Amino acid sequence: MALVRQFLLQALVIAVPFLLQGCGTSDDSQPSKARKASEVVNVPGWPDVKGKFPLSFGIKAGSLVYASGMQGMDMKTMKLVEGGVQEETKQILKNLGELLQAAGSSMQQVTLCSVSLVNITRDFKDMNQAYSSFWPAAPPARVAVQVAALAGNASVEIQCTAALDGKNRTTVQVPGFPDLAAKGFPLSWATKVDGMLYLSGAQGMDMATGKVVSGGVQAETTQALQNLEKVLQAASSNAGRVVACSVSLTNMSDFSEMNQAYQAFWPKSPELGGLPSRVCVEVSALAGTGKVEIQCTAAGTDVPHGEVPSVVKVPGWPEMKGFPFSAGAKVDGIAFISGNQGVDMKTSKLVQGGAGPETTQTLKDIQEAVKASGTGLQEVVACEVSLRDMKDFAAVNKAYSSFWPHEPPSRVAVQVGALARGAAVEIRCLAALSAAMGGMEITV
Ligand SMILES: *[C@@H]1O[C@H](CO)[C@@H](O)[C@H](O)[C@H]1NC(C)=O
Ligand SMILES: *[C@@H]1O[C@H](CO)[C@@H](O)[C@H](O)[C@H]1NC(C)=O
Ligand SMILES: *[C@@H]1O[C@H](CO)[C@@H](O)[C@H](O)[C@H]1NC(C)=O
Ligand SMILES: *[C@@H]1O[C@H](CO)[C@@H](O)[C@H](O)[C@H]1NC(C)=O
Repeated sequence: MALVRQFLLQALVIAVPFLLQGCGTSDDSQPSKARKASEVVNVPGWPDVKGKFPLSFGIKAGSLVYASGMQGMDMKTMKLVEGGVQEETKQILKNLGELLQAAGSSMQQVTLCSVSLVNITRDFKDMNQAYSSFWPAAPPARVAVQVAALAGNASVEIQCTAALDGKNRTTVQVPGFPDLAAKGFPLSWATKVDGMLYLSGAQGMDMATGKVVSGGVQAETTQALQNLEKVLQAASSNAGRVVACSVSLTNMSDFSEMNQAYQAFWPKSPELGGLPSRVCVEVSALAGTGKVEIQCTAAGTDVPHGEVPSVVKVPGWPEMKGFPFSAGAKVDGIAFISGNQGVDMKTSKLVQGGAGPETTQTLKDIQEAVKASGTGLQEVVACEVSLRDMKDFAAVNKAYSSFWPHEPPSRVAVQVGALARGAAVEIRCLAALSAAMGGMEITV
C-alpha cells in the first residue's frame, strides 16, 4: 500500500495514540462514531495495520467499494515485488482482486481506476500490457498520469473503485469515438452502475483525428469538456448532472487560462444548481502531448428514484473568485467534497506553518463541508491526498491521523508537481450520507 513502507519507518513516531487536540472546538468535532452508512473491508490474511497508518484498505458504501491506492507489495512481507512496472502492476491488481473478493465484488465489477506512474514515458506501455491482461473485455474507466513521486520506491500506484456483486455494471460506447481497448489502451469511456457514471480522463483531443487540438490550454480544456459531454450524452446524462471533476494540468501556470475555459463550459442553469465539485493538481506528465486531462463523475437521468444531484453550500464560506467549483455536490448517497487546501475560510488565506498545520486546517474545512452535506467525518469513505513534497509525508500523516483514530477512510497519496496557491497539501474526500438520510432528502 502507499504508505506501508513509509509508515514502517515512522512507526515509532506515529503509533502513539492521538489526542483530539487540533481537531476543532465543539462537540461535532468528535471523530469516529462507528460507521453506519459505510463499512470497513477486512481482507483475510492481510496484516492488521490499524493504528499503524491512517487508511483502511477498502470501504464499502452504497453500491460501491472504494479501495486505497496500492503499490505492488507482497501483502505477507509488505515488500515491493521486484521486476519493475509490469510485475508491480500485476501484483497490485492481484491484491485488488483479493480485496474485492473480501468486499463482495470482483475485478469485472471495477468501475474506475486512477493510475499514477513515476515515469509515464518509460512505463506506460508495460503498465498497459500487464493491466490489460486483467480486463480482457469491458475494462473500467481510467485516468493515468505521471506524478512527481510516490511513497517509497514504487514505479506505479493504482487506486480503484468497484461495484458490489449483483450490481449491473456496464460500459458506455460513444458513437464516433474509437474503441480504445482494441488499440491497446485498456479503458472504457465510462462505466455505469445504478445510474451513476464514472468517466475516463479526457484530453483535448479531436476524436476524429486522434490529435490534441492546437491553441493552447484553453482550447484543450474546451475540447476535453466537449468530449466528456459526448460520453455523458451517450449514457443518458448531461453536463448539468456532473457532480465531481478532477483536473490534471502539466503546468500550474496554465491554471487561470484553464479556469476561464472551464467556467465558460458549464450550463448556466444546471440541474445540480451550481458548478460540480472539483480538485486540480499539477502532474509531471500526461500520456501523449496534452496539457490538461479532466476526469468526471455524473448522475445519469436514470438514477434510482429520479434523484436530482445538488450542490453543497457551506454556511459562512465565501464565494471563491477564480475557483470555479462548488464546495461539494451530492447524489446517490455520496457527498463529493471538492479538493481543499489549508485555507482559513474567514480570511480566505492559507494558514502559516507548512504541511502539518495546513493538513489540520484542510481537514477542519472538509469536516465543515461534510457536515453541511448532512453527514460526518466518520462516514468519509475515500480521500485523495496531493502533496507538493513527499518529505512532508510524516507531518501530513500525523495531522491526518488525529482526525480518524478509528476506521480511517481509504486513501491515495501522491506527490504532485504543484498545487494552486502554492499550498503544501490538497485533500479531496467522498463521504457516505448517513443511512437515515440516504435518498430521502428533500430537494427544494
Ligand atoms: C524516464 O525514463 C527514461 C528512460 O529510462 C529517462 O530517460 C527519463 O529521464 C525518465 N524520466 C523521469 C522523469 O524520470
Ligand atoms: C529504494 O531503492 C534503493 C536502491 O535500490 C534503496 O537503497 C532504498 O533503500 C530503497 N528505499 C526504500 C524506502 O525502500
Ligand atoms: C444491465 O444494464 C444494461 C444497460 O442498461 C441492460 O441492457 C441489461 O439488460 C442490464 N442487465 C441486467 C442483468 O439487469
Ligand atoms: C510552466 O510555464 C511557465 C510559463 O510559461 C514556464 O516558465 C515554466 O518553465 C513551465 N514549467 C514547466 C514545469 O514546464
